[in-house]
Amino acid sequence: MGMAISSRLDTARTFATVLLPTLAKGVIVRRPGVMALSEKLQSDGTAIDTMRHLRDRYGPEPVRLRVTGRSIAILVDPTDVSRLLAESPEPFALATKEKKAALKHFQPHGVLISEGMIREKRRELNERVLRPENVPVDAIVRDEADLLTRHVMSTGELTWDAFAQAWWRVVRRIVLGDRARDDDQLTDDLKELRENANWAFLHPRQRDLRERFQRRLDEYLDRAEEGSLAAQPGDLSGQVPHWLFAFDAAGIVTMRALAIGARGTNGILESARLWPTTPVILRESTKPTRWHGTWLPKNTEFVVFTPFFHRDPDRLPYADEYAPEIWDGPRDPAIVPFSGGPGVCPGRDLVLATGSAMLDALSDHLAFPKLSAPLPRTLNHFGLRMHATPTGTRVS
Ligand code: HEM
Repeated sequence: MGMAISSRLDTARTFATVLLPTLAKGVIVRRPGVMALSEKLQSDGTAIDTMRHLRDRYGPEPVRLRVTGRSIAILVDPTDVSRLLAESPEPFALATKEKKAALKHFQPHGVLISEGMIREKRRELNERVLRPENVPVDAIVRDEADLLTRHVMSTGELTWDAFAQAWWRVVRRIVLGDRARDDDQLTDDLKELRENANWAFLHPRQRDLRERFQRRLDEYLDRAEEGSLAAQPGDLSGQVPHWLFAFDAAGIVTMRALAIGARGTNGILESARLWPTTPVILRESTKPTRWHGTWLPKNTEFVVFTPFFHRDPDRLPYADEYAPEIWDGPRDPAIVPFSGGPGVCPGRDLVLATGSAMLDALSDHLAFPKLSAPLPRTLNHFGLRMHATPTGTRVS
C-alpha cells in the first residue's frame, strides 16, 4: 500500500482551511473578532469539506502533510481515532510539543503536559477531585441562575456577556468557594495569560502576571473552603489553572445548548458534539507506529479534527441536527467531544452536572427561540443574543 502523502496543493489547502482558521480563532482562548468572521464565512463548513476531500482522495490511512521539520498525520478513519485515544499516553503521548509550548504559559504543572509517573499521579488526583458529588453543584447554580433570570426578565434578552458573568461566579464558587465569587480579577488575569498562550512559542512568558495569579489562587486553596473543590485533599495548586481555563469551554457549550433548546446531560453532550470546544485533539508518538500497513515515524504529530468526525454528512444522518438520543446507546467511535480512552476529560461529569443544572434552572422561568436544523457549522457564542419570554413560573 502506498503512503498517503498529500500533494503540495492539498497540504496548502489543509493548512489554509483546517489548521490556520482553528489557530486564528484561538486555541486557548477564543478571539471575538475572528469568531464573528468565522461564523460569517462558516469556516468550519469549509474545513469539513477539505477533510472529506482528503479522506476520499487518500484515505483511509492517516494523511501525511508535506512540511519540513515535523511529521504530521491527519486521521480520516473513525476507528483510527478510537485506537489513537485508547493507546494514550503510550505510545501516543498527550503532552505534544505544541501543547507544552502553549500551556506552560499558565499551567506548567498541569496533567495534560506532564509525563511518566508524575502524569499518573496528577491524573489520579484530577479523577478523584473532579467529581460532581464533591460540591453542591445544583444549589450554587440555582443561586446564580435566579439572579441571571431576574436580569434577563428586566432586559428581555439573554446575551453572552450576562451569561458569562453568572457562569464565572458559579465556576469560582465551585472551584474555590463562595469567597471567590466576585473575584473577577483572578479569572481576568487567567484570561490574559491564556491570550499569551494562544501565541504559544512566539509570546514571552509573563512571569510576574503568572506569579500574581498563582499567589491569589493559592490563598483560596489554603483556605480550603467547605463545599468547594478547594476543600479536597491533595496538591491542587498546579491543577486548578486548567480547571478554571476549561470551565470557559463548559460555559460556551452551555450557552450554545440554550440556543438549540437542549436539555439534560445529553443536551450538553450534543452541544459539544455540534460545536466541539477542543476542535483538535493532538497526540505525539513515542515510537514508530503502523497504520493500515504503513509505518509512521516516532515523534509524528497526530491530528484529530473533531468537527469533521462529529458532523460528517457522508456518515452521520443526524450530522447537522440536535440528536440527544445518540448518547443513550453505542455510538460512532469518533464522536469524542471529551476525548476518550485513558486521557478522557476527567472533568466531564462535573461539566455535565453544572451545564445541565444551568439549563434546568433557566428553563424553569424563561423560554428562548431555538435555532433549527440544519444547524450552522460555526456558531459564534459571543454574538448570541436570545430574546427571552417568561414562562410564568416565578423566581423564588
Ligand atoms: C465543555 C467542557 C469541556 C470539554 C469539551 C472538555 C474536553 C476535553 C478534552 C477533549 C480533553 C483532552 C485534551 C487532549 O487530549 O489534548 C480534556 C482534557 C482534560 N480536561 Fe476537559 N473539557 C471540558 C471541561 C473541563 C473542566 C471544567 C475541567 C476541570 C474542572 C476539565 C479537566 C480536564 C483535564 C484535567 C484534562 C487533562 C486530562 C489528561 O491530561 O489526562 N475539563 N478535556
